[in-house]
Amino acid sequence: MELRMTAKHAQWPRENDPIFAIAGRAKEAQDKFGKDKVIDATIGALVDDEGALICMESVYGVLKNLPNAKIAAYAALAGQPDFLKDVEKACFREFRPDAHIRTVATPGGTGAVKHAVWGYTNPGDKILVSDWFWSAYSTIAGDVGRSLTHHRLFNEKGGFNIESFKESFDALADEQGRVLTIINSPAQNPTGYSLSDEEWDQVLEVMKAKAQDSEKRLILFVDTAYIDFAGEGMERRAFFRKFSGLPENILVIVGYSMSKGYTMYGLRSGAAIGISSNEDVAEDFYYACLHAGRANWSNGTRCAMEVMSEIENDPAKLEVYSKELLKYKNMLRARAAAFVKASAEVGLEILPYRDGFFTSIPHENPKAVVEKLTEYNIFAVPLKMGVRFAVCAVSEENCAKAPVIIKKAIDELK
Ligand SMILES: Cc1ncc(COP(=O)(O)O)c(C=O)c1O
Repeated sequence: MELRMTAKHAQWPRENDPIFAIAGRAKEAQDKFGKDKVIDATIGALVDDEGALICMESVYGVLKNLPNAKIAAYAALAGQPDFLKDVEKACFREFRPDAHIRTVATPGGTGAVKHAVWGYTNPGDKILVSDWFWSAYSTIAGDVGRSLTHHRLFNEKGGFNIESFKESFDALADEQGRVLTIINSPAQNPTGYSLSDEEWDQVLEVMKAKAQDSEKRLILFVDTAYIDFAGEGMERRAFFRKFSGLPENILVIVGYSMSKGYTMYGLRSGAAIGISSNEDVAEDFYYACLHAGRANWSNGTRCAMEVMSEIENDPAKLEVYSKELLKYKNMLRARAAAFVKASAEVGLEILPYRDGFFTSIPHENPKAVVEKLTEYNIFAVPLKMGVRFAVCAVSEENCAKAPVIIKKAIDELK
């Protein structure tokens, strides 16, 4: 019997993150066969065609010019006052909802998820997410004695499955009296799906119908971690306007992240933005997050907040940043388009892709596919219902090449 000192709630299987395990094998293959012989589609960050991490000059130029005190100092518990205004601007752009809005800085989008899970569910509650989902939701929920329940993400036409969402949402609202649902859009991880504006209307219709019972507490968490890489212009933000004038017992929380849009993954910065038609609900959100933040991580990363504010408040810097972001967004779109096109040409089934870092290939035995692919020096991530291929980490040339090999590998498993 192994000796454990941990309390019951802290005892988890002794396993490492499976993504890091497969990423480690990709690295070994690169060392053995050479970088150009290996396609590493495991990484969840934007890398250049040579496999080096992209770090935006317009961001790191600002960071490196900050006075030491603005790097070293604590941030205010809620986040620097300027940052709180600026992050709302960066998130909503011209689509700010007409509502009471309160914002708290968090260590990345992860911190915002944690606030929603902790502050808006009771012990033992279930949280509604789609069947294709970011696995950290499950970790965060499980850590505090909550769990996930799922609706189907796609209908047979490859659109958002509103029937399945409604069925699960209504059942959970009746069972628990409150529902926290997380929708990761635009640019979902792992599928690359983005809800259309009409699909957002349908989601809100379902929520509004349930909200007629004023006893219900309905919380929509919108995970926008990849929003800065979605769409051609700002059109993927238009749905934010729909969060104006919602019933008082619906709270929307937007989780914003600086990790991808500013290539600041390790600097741990983002925000939880609460949106309500009732000012009291918005204030309640703010103070709940403030308290939980103090209890968990105290305050956020000061220099990341300063970088956001400097860029937002200097038109020249904002322009340089926006141009650089657009350059990388276009690079990502070209890679994804190459992957989608090549998949269609060879008849490889992939999930509907719209935006973002990842595409997914549905399969009943993802681990076997991933193993088979390693024989061809392609490394991808096994999920519960398929395989995730990170277009953010693979050159356009290799994105065009990979589908035929993936198709071959899958056929060989038959
Ligand atoms: C779906 C999704 N949400 C949120 C995040 C949050 O990332 P961070 O905490 O680095 O902002 C990630 C990062 O991988 C993600 O994939």
